[in-house]
Amino acid sequence: MMDQKVSELLNDQINKELYSAYLYLDMANFYDSKGLDGFANWYEIQAKEEQDHAMLIYKYLHNNSQTVTLGAIAKPDKEFKTLMDPLKAAHEHEQYVTSLINAIYAAAQEVKDFRTVQFLDWFVKEQGEEEKNSSDMITKMELFGSDPKGLYMLNSELAGRVYSAPSLQI
Ligand code: FEO
Repeated sequence: MMDQKVSELLNDQINKELYSAYLYLDMANFYDSKGLDGFANWYEIQAKEEQDHAMLIYKYLHNNSQTVTLGAIAKPDKEFKTLMDPLKAAHEHEQYVTSLINAIYAAAQEVKDFRTVQFLDWFVKEQGEEEKNSSDMITKMELFGSDPKGLYMLNSELAGRVYSAPSLQI
């Protein structure tokens, strides 16, 4: 039987991941409105990945006979003015998500729920990648974003991102 607190934290994380998807869709929406389809593509795929994260946790809870309760998804609350704003907000958001995953990991470890710890190992690694990607985006924008040709090239690079399903299967 899964510990109640661990189960609740995982349940909450479904909502947090779906909010992340909504936040990234809002970033795609911002870049689409600026004519930067490559940046928009990057965040559309990011939004899909967040939905995948939510579904992995949803399925994990069901596979362990836990009740899943779906709550309301909050309105994306960030305001973007410059092309850099979403990139910085995304990096801060990923750092926040890492702290959430770490808190669930710690709670699972405390009650010796090694199955959940092992499940979360994938998320810990994924957060490392997410933070690196969001940090790299800021660096690239700082380096090339103020030059129109540089921005065009960066947008073209981001247009090439393709979606792939998560390596973790439940
Ligand atoms: Fe699901 Fe971007 O962390």
